Amino acid sequence: MSEPSRVAIVTGGASGIGLAISRRLAADGHAVAVFDLDARAAEEAAASITEAGGRAVGMPVDVADREGVFAGVAAVGDHLGRPAILVNNAGTGAKMTRFLKLAPEVWDQVIRVNLTGAFNCCQAVLPHMLEAGWGRIVNISSSSTHGGQPLLSQYVSSKSGLNGLTKSLALEFAPKGITVNAIPPGFIDTPMLRASAERGEFGPGGIEDAITRTPVQRAGQPEDIAAACSFLCREEASYITGQLIGVNGGRNT
Ligand SMILES: NC(=O)c1ccc[n+]([C@@H]2O[C@H](COP(=O)([O-])OP(=O)(O)OC[C@H]3O[C@@H](n4cnc5c(N)ncnc54)[C@H](O)[C@@H]3O)[C@@H](O)[C@H]2O)c1
Repeated sequence: MSEPSRVAIVTGGASGIGLAISRRLAADGHAVAVFDLDARAAEEAAASITEAGGRAVGMPVDVADREGVFAGVAAVGDHLGRPAILVNNAGTGAKMTRFLKLAPEVWDQVIRVNLTGAFNCCQAVLPHMLEAGWGRIVNISSSSTHGGQPLLSQYVSSKSGLNGLTKSLALEFAPKGITVNAIPPGFIDTPMLRASAERGEFGPGGIEDAITRTPVQRAGQPEDIAAACSFLCREEASYITGQLIGVNGGRNT
């Protein structure tokens, strides 16, 4: 079944999982706006999609900056057309910290990006989806929300909030042709994961040791998340909403 070409926004779309999602949605025939804090990386991501024959623009957008988000979404309307797909992927704060040492500024910043950032983007994009009577929102949360994780209270709390936002919005907007789902990824080989390994957060055995504890016996690749996201954005996924679709190699069942 061929899909109509739509306009997608991918936040944090210039690196790791977001980059793979941007590329995959472009390969699916959608025009993609890459929103990222890193302006140059966003430009480069869009250029690589265009070189591969897709349509994309890169925009420097900090999801925590509400005005910037609304301006970015308006610019997408001007450059590519009305957005119909939103992937809230931008994330930060997965740095292990003892709870009693956690600075309130760090807590606020992680919530501001991981949760309020998605809130900003949803409020900016949903009016366009409502007008079209069709929309797909995919929130990239975290497998750490399944069972909690020590030393990551700020991150797990923000991503658990994102799961909750997913379920509430799914129920509110289901009658309008808009689905809202979350993918909580686990152990995906990206710059974020490599930085965590470099800080020693995987223990002395590092990533290799973590692979032996993963049922499918490999680290996930950003494309594993992109494949699930692509499916959730399809027409035929219209009966799936309010769900957390774990993509984690069997680490969380
Ligand atoms: N890699 C994993 O194993 C894993 C596991 C669970 C959840 N996740 C989540 O997946 C998402 C992508 O992670 P990744 O591993 O690809 O990380 P990454 O660090 O490779 O990429 C994150 C991207 O988000 C951008 N970004 C950060 N803050 C932003 C902001 N305020 N506004 C706009 N862009 C911003 C960064 O510039 C970067 O391009 C994150 O939300 C992360 O929490 C990753």
